[in-house]
Amino acid sequence: MNELRAYFMREIPGIDAFLAAEADKLDGLVREVARHVLLSGGKRIRPMLTILFARALGYGGGGHLAIACALEMLHTATLLHDDVLDAALVRRGQTSAHVRFGTVETILAGDVLLALANKIGADYDLPRLNALLARGIMATANGEILELAHTKNPTADRAAYMDIIIGKTARLIETACRCGAALASRDRSVEDLAGSYGLNLGIAFQLVDDALDYTVSEGEMGKPAGGDLREGKMTLPLILHLEGLAPGEAVELLDALRQKRLTVEQAEGIVCEVREKGLAEKTREAAAGYVAAALKELETLPDSPERKVLAQAAEYVLTRRK
Ligand code: IPE
Ligand code: IPE
Ligand code: MG
Ligand code: MG
Repeated sequence: MNELRAYFMREIPGIDAFLAAEADKLDGLVREVARHVLLSGGKRIRPMLTILFARALGYGGGGHLAIACALEMLHTATLLHDDVLDAALVRRGQTSAHVRFGTVETILAGDVLLALANKIGADYDLPRLNALLARGIMATANGEILELAHTKNPTADRAAYMDIIIGKTARLIETACRCGAALASRDRSVEDLAGSYGLNLGIAFQLVDDALDYTVSEGEMGKPAGGDLREGKMTLPLILHLEGLAPGEAVELLDALRQKRLTVEQAEGIVCEVREKGLAEKTREAAAGYVAAALKELETLPDSPERKVLAQAAEYVLTRRK
């Protein structure tokens, strides 16, 4: 993992400086809101993937930073809006933006970051970038909508869960990879390779996030443990738990989730059972399959330092604790 760490340490200051300069140009009403999340210690996975694919595919210009940062702005916008949707109080170990600055200000800050990311993409005068950003944003919004609908009427349906995580998380990660590739090459098959790596990585990323939610403390993860169950989210650890219950018990739990009448004690009991039955581990095993698929895509890339870092990034997704 040394190359991965060194690569991130080298590139992140440039990303942070670009994002800080863009945030400074925003209107006073939303500037602090945007800064609160843009500059609060995100892992910068999406912009790094854009940079890595641009370079892995031979891009030698200096124009990659803006589009990479546009991906981080899109991600930031989704986090601002997501914490409103999920009524989440903590993000990256800090009070979430809507609690600190207000819901209206937070929604507007998310909107302006979405717009700014699109503007940055449009300034390249490379129509493919606009198409990719538009599709990534649409898929993310659709994923969040699907999840909201599913939370109102939860079922232990693995296919529905996959549609949700692909939409809300994996498509934007795929978009980050595709944008880097599209900057370097007009060859669509090359972009598709990057996209397939990103989609698989993104699925694994959300599966691991859903496993961590049941196992890792708030101190480590920067968001409260057990939050998914409290938010009524049907993630794979909970689906596996429901699949192991007697039919009557499963119906009872689904009813309780639908009617939002799970007590704190009941929720804690379920989190313990998920841990004891090793269901977070099983979720990680599912993620490992997608990481293997992502790694396979890299085999046809020409050898480069970036290819090695992309392989390490895929492995990191499985071992991460935050
Ligand atoms: C959080 O994404 C939202 C999910 C898709 C699970 P990250 O875990 O990449 O968030 P930061 O930017 O590093 O905080
Ligand atoms: C992650 O949503 C995807 C988006 C933010 C669009 P979640 O609600 O699952 O992620 P966390 O737990 O808030 O980071
Ligand atoms: Mg959330
Ligand atoms: Mg959410």
